[in-house]
Amino acid sequence: MQISFENKVALVTGAAMGVGLATARMFAEAGASVVLSDQNAEALAAATEALKAAGHRVLAVRCDVSRAEEVDAMVRRTVDTYGRLDAAFNNAGIQIPPNAVVDVPDADYERVMAVNLRGVWNCMKAELRQMQAQGSGAIVNCSSIGGLVGNPYLAAYHGTKYGVIGMTQSAALEYAAQGIRLNAVCPGTIDTPMVARMVAERPEAMADIMRKQPIGRLGRPDEIASAVLWLCSDAASFVLGVALPVDGGYTAN
Ligand SMILES: NC(=O)c1ccc[n+]([C@@H]2O[C@H](COP(=O)([O-])OP(=O)(O)OC[C@H]3O[C@@H](n4cnc5c(N)ncnc54)[C@H](O)[C@@H]3O)[C@@H](O)[C@H]2O)c1
Repeated sequence: MQISFENKVALVTGAAMGVGLATARMFAEAGASVVLSDQNAEALAAATEALKAAGHRVLAVRCDVSRAEEVDAMVRRTVDTYGRLDAAFNNAGIQIPPNAVVDVPDADYERVMAVNLRGVWNCMKAELRQMQAQGSGAIVNCSSIGGLVGNPYLAAYHGTKYGVIGMTQSAALEYAAQGIRLNAVCPGTIDTPMVARMVAERPEAMADIMRKQPIGRLGRPDEIASAVLWLCSDAASFVLGVALPVDGGYTAN
């Protein structure tokens, strides 16, 4: 099965590194015009330049997904530049330091909710308006295995990722008849800067990750990217409202 995004426009948030960058690259390699968006302007510029140098049609748009006006401007810029929006991967997300519920600082709770939950909400809203006008489109929201199972000391993060699935499935029902498909992807533990930071702070976490991930290794960002491309493609035309684990067997345990 060959997935092509020739003549299609894809938007990826949190695209400067990790899972987002791998997905932006894969969309570009499949022929899409790709908007890379991130709040980290410097890393975003470097990522976009690298894809441009490889001959891809890409545009960088700096945007903090927790700010609705920036998200609206990001989608406007996408449509002004490329004329439409066919596929969106709402991937931007953050971790907060692990803590027992009673010890989680309010500021950490607010921050993770603002980016992971409000951010996905802002993006869905702006993208759906455009896709409704077109009468077509596919959206994949980034949840996590943290949206499918609990984990001690990560309650706020998991709350956001369960929330992403609830939003995705409810919106999928609303927009199914309008030619728009929404799904969520639930990555296991993937080798990205986010996980590198976590393991640097708590080296003992790696043994736990390996124990829980039966495949016995971290996932690669491109293993999430290929699931996202499939979900956004016509090959998945009958798939909507799913929360797809791509997790090396983590949730099969
Ligand atoms: N890495 C994993 O093991 C793993 C597992 C499950 C789910 N996820 C989810 O996958 C997504 C990507 O994770 P990753 O590991 O690639 O992370 P990462 O930290 O390596 O990269 C995340 C990117 O998002 C950007 N970002 C952060 N806050 C933002 C904001 N407010 N607005 C716009 N951009 C913002 C960062 O600048 C960065 O470029 C996240 O939603 C994360 O929760 C990751």
